[in-house]
Amino acid sequence: MTILVTGGAGFIGSNFVLDWLAGSDEAVVNLDALTYAGNVHNLDSLRDNPRHIFVHGDIGDAALVGRLLAEHQPRAVLHFAAESHVDRSIHGPGAFVQTNIVGTFQLLEAIRTYWGALEPEAKAAFRLLHVSTDEVFGSLAKDAPAFTETHPYEPNSPYSASKAASDHLVRAYHHTYGLPVLTTNCSNNYGPLHFPEKLIPLMIVNAQAGKPLPVYGDGQQIRDWLYVKDHCSAIRCVLAHGRLGETYNVGGWNEMPNLDIVHTVCDLLDELKPRADGSSYRAQIAFVTDRPGHDRRYAIDANKIHRELGWRPAETFASGIRKTVQWYLDNPQWVAQVQSGAYRDWVAKQYAAG
Ligand code: NAD
Ligand code: TYD
Repeated sequence: MTILVTGGAGFIGSNFVLDWLAGSDEAVVNLDALTYAGNVHNLDSLRDNPRHIFVHGDIGDAALVGRLLAEHQPRAVLHFAAESHVDRSIHGPGAFVQTNIVGTFQLLEAIRTYWGALEPEAKAAFRLLHVSTDEVFGSLAKDAPAFTETHPYEPNSPYSASKAASDHLVRAYHHTYGLPVLTTNCSNNYGPLHFPEKLIPLMIVNAQAGKPLPVYGDGQQIRDWLYVKDHCSAIRCVLAHGRLGETYNVGGWNEMPNLDIVHTVCDLLDELKPRADGSSYRAQIAFVTDRPGHDRRYAIDANKIHRELGWRPAETFASGIRKTVQWYLDNPQWVAQVQSGAYRDWVAKQYAAG
């Protein structure tokens, strides 16, 4: 048996592929366009693994996707590939529309053709699992209840709007064509192999380099944070047991303001790799211009996946963030390698205004 993963060289996708191959006998066909966020080195440990078939290509290349489906006959497609960074979507929304909306549409068409021609047993067993985000629900007031699966979609950034559009397309392919789909809407992930343009890895990397730790606005925006391996276990659980056509919210039961996240990272670094002058990394915190249209609060109600499928996160934030900081301290060569010319250009552009 084989599964097809899209975006399996990115942060969550590569963690998923590594965990999948460690825990299952099934092969993985990994389709990834290797954008700036895709990193084949995340998969270096699989170089000699015959069950990992890496394909460099675009989800929007219908001929390629059709060929891969016909050749490998996967029993499931797990769709991670996306443009994923909100700040980049503000600077250039076009790529988000292209990959997240048009690319997902083209992937759906290729899957519909493949699935439609399967024998009845394989057709009934097939699954498309679409990996989405809590950001499609928009911003919550301070005391409002957390997002449930029936919360109205109110995306506020080009990123979240493009993910919302992809969720709607996936839903429509189920209702119109009967395609056996599952969708997960997860909160902010953190953990190993996270590209250092996102909050937590950026703070770990900048702190060690003696650079400012840029906190947008007042730092009181609230996110729910989930350790990436817990997101991967939730996806495996939904793939195995999820009800067709359903959506499942995935979260860590861990709402925290950004400034508290940054303080936690600084405190761990103070313990694990103290600054030479003995003062705290907190001294490097710099409040910078806020993100336009910045969502104030996200919170996930993950009761449905717990009640129906029995899933709960294994890590607390305290255990997950400690593992994460330690992983970055143990892997300086990974950090150096991802901080390419393209990465430096992005940092210069994004933080120029201060
Ligand atoms: P990422 O940016 O780290 O990785 C995205 C991967 O997709 C990269 O390897 C990239 O090369 C690949 N890709 C981009 N465009 C492609 C295309 N056209 N064809 C093929 N491959 C392409 O993203 P991530 O953080 O790993 O997120 C993975 C998925 O999970 C995304 O769909 C994202 O919306 C969703 N998600 C992310 C988070 C989070 O906190 N990171 C939370 C919830 C949901
Ligand atoms: P991010 O990791 O970009 O994820 P998302 O926007 O998808 O939630 O950002 C997480 C939070 O951290 C978000 O509220 C924006 C904030 N943030 C900063 O304050 N400074 C930064 O340099 C970055 C990248 C993010």
